[in-house]
Amino acid sequence: MVSCAGLQHGNERTLGYLRIAADERPLAVQIFGSDPGVMAEAAAMVEEAGADIVDINFGCPVKKVTKTGAGATLLDEPDRACRVVDAVASAVSVPVTVKLRRGLENGSRACLSVGPRLVDAGAASLTLHPRSAKQMYTGAADHALTAELVSLVDVPVVASGDITSRARAQATLAATGAAAVMVGRAAQGNPWALQEILEGDGVEPSREEVVAELVLFMHETVRELGEHRATGFLKKFYGWYLGRGRFPRAFKAELTQLPTIAEVEARLFAAVPGARFPLARLEEELPESDEVLLDLPISIYGGG
Ligand SMILES: Cc1cc2nc3c(=O)[nH]c(=O)nc-3n(C[C@H](O)[C@H](O)[C@H](O)COP(=O)(O)O)c2cc1C
Repeated sequence: MVSCAGLQHGNERTLGYLRIAADERPLAVQIFGSDPGVMAEAAAMVEEAGADIVDINFGCPVKKVTKTGAGATLLDEPDRACRVVDAVASAVSVPVTVKLRRGLENGSRACLSVGPRLVDAGAASLTLHPRSAKQMYTGAADHALTAELVSLVDVPVVASGDITSRARAQATLAATGAAAVMVGRAAQGNPWALQEILEGDGVEPSREEVVAELVLFMHETVRELGEHRATGFLKKFYGWYLGRGRFPRAFKAELTQLPTIAEVEARLFAAVPGARFPLARLEEELPESDEVLLDLPISIYGGG
């Protein structure tokens, strides 16, 4: 999720979010903002940077975003939301898609009135996370709404919310008629979830594989963000990768207290020395070309 204002002002950190790796395609870059003109300019920059799809965020419930009139707030301002989609779709030649929540308040059905209007304004696909902005991530995603939205629009609808397994994905697709599912929290620190959902291979990773993936991610994060920013940024990932009953709580807590990433890595290898072998294999598989830039698939503000 990239701020359109940040792009407009040429903010160095924001521009950094447009670094796209050669092996990341197809790739959508999501922008947020509330001014149609500024959003259109940002979308053109995103297309120029090589994105295959420009996605617009009308789902973020985080205050930092909603207080600027962006994110889920636009669900309460359908005219403005349509002007944003229209301006963005006119500014780029790649498809423009929209991610939305059900509405701002609990029980809201705003997505069912706003969604079709966004399609008329130029949205090529809608992704619905059927929780209200107020709910944040609590309660259950109400995919009955997703099914209703599918019946109202003639573009592909993507179902987002509580897709944690292949069984859930298949049940949601069957119940809603959605064209695809989007996986969120189930994949945090858990890329194996995607394999299970795609292939039905539900084998739990070994401790060695988990630590190897985490250390690889740490190396890439340092490369992209630099040591200083990466140190704080990585702390939540220790819990995500090592959680799910994989490692004791005390061990995760100990890692977050260590002052440097090198110390975290040393502690991980001390606990799981065999992780060096799968790590070497993973590093061998990385693309070699100097032209490959790695963009972290991580939201800046974390909200939708
Ligand atoms: C840490 C975090 C960051 C997120 N960042 C974004 C984002 O930048 N853009 C977006 O549209 N949704 C974002 N979401 C929402 C997810 O895409 C998804 O709609 C939501 O988490 C529900 O799916 P889940 O139950 O599978 O997690 C984020 C969710 C989480 C937990």
